[in-house]
Amino acid sequence: MIPVPSRQTVSGKVMSVRSPEHVAIIMDGNGRWAKARGLPRSIGHRRGVEAVREAVRTAGALGIRYLTLFAFSSENWSRPAEEVGELMGLLKLFIRRDLADLHKEGVRVRVIGARNNLSPDIRSLLEEAENLTRNNTSTNLVIAFNYGARDEVTRAMQRIGEKIVLGELEPKALTAELIDAHMDTAGIPDPDLIIRTSGELRLSNFLLWQAAYSEFVFMPCLWPDFDRKAFEEALKDFASRERRFGSVSSCEIAS
Ligand code: FPP
Repeated sequence: MIPVPSRQTVSGKVMSVRSPEHVAIIMDGNGRWAKARGLPRSIGHRRGVEAVREAVRTAGALGIRYLTLFAFSSENWSRPAEEVGELMGLLKLFIRRDLADLHKEGVRVRVIGARNNLSPDIRSLLEEAENLTRNNTSTNLVIAFNYGARDEVTRAMQRIGEKIVLGELEPKALTAELIDAHMDTAGIPDPDLIIRTSGELRLSNFLLWQAAYSEFVFMPCLWPDFDRKAFEEALKDFASRERRFGSVSSCEIAS
């Protein structure tokens, strides 16, 4: 979460960075995609998985080191039981069907979000995916599943609080870096770019701590329609931004 990554500054001057190291995506619009075609929402989610596959391929082809996908939020449990079951089933299917290929491609899978209220079969599949791909070094695919940023921060605070009570940690030793190390995303750089599809202009409890200096691209296209062209369009938009991380523009420093 360090606000000014060194690769983006030279002698304290802010540079414009052309290519993001970490792209995070709020995959929205599966339901509307299906509704527009008179199809059940479940078909929209299934087509959404196709778009997930394409996004992972594109990230690999474009050299994006980290791709985080918001697949199921801690608030999504409030959807009808049938839809929750469908989304759980799709995650299981995705891991069972795609894990071997992801591993062959050198993709490292990490999952962020709470595990305690997931069914044992899903928990063991998530662990299997993480363990199998632990040493892979191409794209890092981070799946946010049963994830909510406030829940993540709360769990991190609970762990830190326990350490303070046990005398393992002095309250004064608490820093932003230490909080970072207790988040689900420990070791993962902050997202440079957050994309949300479907035209909604919200963060919806996604990576609230980590998004402090992220650039945002909101796209009208619905998630099942998000293809390589749409991904490249978002990257082009990102490339046109000047990131200042609270500093001033490089022109102003020079003058
Ligand atoms: C938002 O669309 C999408 C979701 C809540 C789930 C996203 C899930 C997938 C793309 C498939 C499963 C993912 C993996 C990694 C296997 P929405 O249903 O809220 O659409 P709407 O706003 O148009 O109703």
